[in-house]
Amino acid sequence: MLDDEATAGLEFAGDVPAARESGAAHGGIMSPQRAQNPGGTLLQLRDVTFSIGAQVILENIDLEIGKGEFVCVVGVSGCGKTTMLRLLAGLLTPTKGAAYYRGAAVSGPQQDIALVFQDYGKALLPWRNAAGNVSLALEPTGVPRRVRAARIEALLKKVGLEGHATKFPGEMSGGMQQGLQIARCLAQTPAVLLMDEPFGALDAMTRQGLQDEILSIVALSGATGFFVTHDTEEAIYLADRVIGLLPRPGRIGTSFTINLPRPRDQITTREHPEFLRLRRELLDFVKAHEA
Ligand SMILES: Nc1ncnc2c1ncn2[C@@H]1O[C@H](COP(=O)(O)OP(=O)(O)OP(=O)(O)O)[C@@H](O)[C@H]1O
Ligand SMILES: [Mg+2]
Repeated sequence: MLDDEATAGLEFAGDVPAARESGAAHGGIMSPQRAQNPGGTLLQLRDVTFSIGAQVILENIDLEIGKGEFVCVVGVSGCGKTTMLRLLAGLLTPTKGAAYYRGAAVSGPQQDIALVFQDYGKALLPWRNAAGNVSLALEPTGVPRRVRAARIEALLKKVGLEGHATKFPGEMSGGMQQGLQIARCLAQTPAVLLMDEPFGALDAMTRQGLQDEILSIVALSGATGFFVTHDTEEAIYLADRVIGLLPRPGRIGTSFTINLPRPRDQITTREHPEFLRLRRELLDFVKAHEA
């Protein structure tokens, strides 16, 4: 991973969009699905092609992500999911077309876009303890030290790391380290969370716990999400919309609107007939295009 990925956007101290489900925190009363794209387009890839030499990695991608929308991307290994995320993050420049954020062409990392990577080991600073790693995102914003400590404590609590503030990454489990990376990203109060298979290396229970943390966080903050995963069930569980990419070259092959009620629940949502129907359709899509 590049250094710019680890630190991109860490100086944000700006506005946060309105809560996506007013007052309805994850785990509360079932609420109806929000209208798609109610706040307009926040992120966009417009006719984007990305090539490396003669190899076309992504071709003619048109994607609009609404403010407060949570989009998941699935597809076989090598189809261009990470490339798509890097284009949205401004870490790569399209060969053709452009990425837009808040209507302006993206030319580099944005301050209010947070990135979460699968490789938490590289994203965290091993010589800083948990509080110190979260503090990294707050220090450039000029938040007074006293206020910072309370914010750090609250963020660690949110990802289940209460009481672990003085532990170093090397003393934490994979799930704890990933939670710490997420806490550091949330310290930015990001308007957008771009996540590249953030839970890929974690066991199923830890993974589900962090899925629910992400849902709870975006429900309360109204943040927009773009989440790459290999796991079709994870995609359906989290998303308002699931995009399926086709490989060689990477293209959008399908798009499913997920009309499952929110807040979602690991048991009832996954047993919902609509969840099972979507899972079947998405698996059929992925299987039909496996190499
Ligand atoms: N720096 C690079 N140089 C050459 N080829 C690259 C480079 N980065 C990516 N690619 C190629 O681009 C294609 C898409 O890569 P990308 O990492 O976006 O796929 P992915 O869908 O994220 O795969 P995975 O699920 O394995 O993470 C692959 O064929 C990969 O080999
Ligand atoms: Mg990838």
